[in-house]
Formats: sequence, C-alpha cells, structure tokens
Amino acid sequence: MEKRAELYSGKAKSVYETDDQDYLVLAFRNDTSAFDGKRIEQLERKGMVNNKFNAFIMEKLKAAGIPTHFERLLSDQECLVKRMDMMPVECVVRNIAAGSLVRRLGVTEGQELNPPTFELFLKNDALGDPMINESHVETFGWATREQLARAKELTYQVNDVLKALFDDAGLLLVDYKLEFGIFKGEVVLGDEFSPDGCRLWDKETRDKMDKDRFRQGLGGVIEAYEEVGRRLGIDFG
Ligand code: TMP
Ligand code: ASP
Repeated sequence: MEKRAELYSGKAKSVYETDDQDYLVLAFRNDTSAFDGKRIEQLERKGMVNNKFNAFIMEKLKAAGIPTHFERLLSDQECLVKRMDMMPVECVVRNIAAGSLVRRLGVTEGQELNPPTFELFLKNDALGDPMINESHVETFGWATREQLARAKELTYQVNDVLKALFDDAGLLLVDYKLEFGIFKGEVVLGDEFSPDGCRLWDKETRDKMDKDRFRQGLGGVIEAYEEVGRRLGIDFG
C-alpha cells in the first residue's frame, strides 16, 4: 500500500489517497480544536494517543459486529481506512446531561438520561454545527431514510458496547458523536472514536477525562486521555 496525495485536511486529521481506490490513509495530527475551529492548539503526543485509542475502540466495535471503516494501524499517527461517501451528519447519543444539552434545555449537568437521547447535527463549522432532525436529512439528501435509520441503530449499538467497556474501566460514557459513510452500499462507521469526540467522567470523582479539559481550560488534556487508555489496557508505547 502506497500513500499518495493529500485529499483533505480537517481540524485534527488529514486524509491521503493510496494506490488502492478503496482505501485512504487517516493521519491524526497534534492539532486540537474547539468551538468549531475557533480555538486550535498543538498538544504533544495527541496524534499518536488518539490514533492508538481509535484503533483499540474500532477493533472492539468490529468484534461486536459493528461495521467500521478501520482496517489497520500503519504508524504512530496513521491508520488505513475504507474510502467512503460520508454523510455530513453527526449522530450524538447522551447517557448523562452535559454540554450543549445543558445549555439548550437548562437541565442539570450530570442528570441521568433514561432512555438515552439521540440527536443529529449538521457538520458545518460556518453554521456552528446546527442541530437538525431526521426529516432535514431526508429532504436535503444528506442520507436516505433507510441509511439514517441504520446509522441510528448502529449508534445505539455502539452505546451498549462502549458503556460496558468504559464502566469496566471505572468511567462513565456521558455522551459521544459518531459519523457514518457509505462503503459499497453499506452504512459503515467512519471518522474516529477518541476522547476528542466523547465525554468520559471518572465514576467515583466525576472528573472530566475528555476534550472538555481543553474546552474548559482545565489542563492535563493528554494526561487524561492516556489515563483512560491505561485503564482500558491500551499500549501507547
Ligand atoms: P455537545 O454537548 O457539544 O452537543 O456535544 C455532544 C458530544 O458530541 C460530545 O461528546 C462532543 C461531541 N462533539 C464532537 O465531537 N464534535 C462536534 O462538532 C460536536 C458538536 C460535538
Ligand atoms: N469538534 C468541534 C471543533 O473542533 C467542536 C468541539 O469539539 O468543541 O471545533
């Protein structure tokens, strides 16, 4: 497999073509962004930590029968993934109230959400990733009704797998964001799963162990990501 030209550069990852039209190289950079890219900083080791974290989680999801774009690790900061047509939509499940839910609805942070909520956001930094509903997705052609239903089903399945995984590591999976694409007609999990795109709290102390440490200027961002990884048994080398 040969890495070719850069296809796209996002806020924290870059995507490269390969000599195989069905596969791409995903490169995790040290860039860390918040507030729709209005704040970006480089955090040492972050690219490597998130790449290995994502690989570990994607393997767990695959073992649980969830289709993912992840193929294999290539290096400290790179992995090989399937080339998909991405839906420009973010699927968010929340088990505990935090973040924008608290701001929008005035509910108390930390309130348990039973059943968990499912929300959709449009991936559009210029518009501040606005919340959308299922009819918007169909009307504007971001995905078909069937594709969206499958993405939603998979998003909930991920919750069952990962809530248990993090619980065993003494962590609460508060909420998370997933992105899906279409690969050879099938809805497949894409993008990444790392502490950049979810909220994880220590079960005992409720300390934040995710990107909220960066958003809220709490410090110790990568140290927290590595502590989560250590509890899961991830080898960062
Ligand atoms: P929110 O509380 O800001 O709506 O975020 C919900 C979850 O989704 C949280 O775990 C962070 C994640 N998320 C992203 O990873 N990227 C985004 O652009 C947004 C809006 C949320
Ligand atoms: N991922 C978005 C950004 O980088 C939102 C966030 O994580 O706060 O701006």
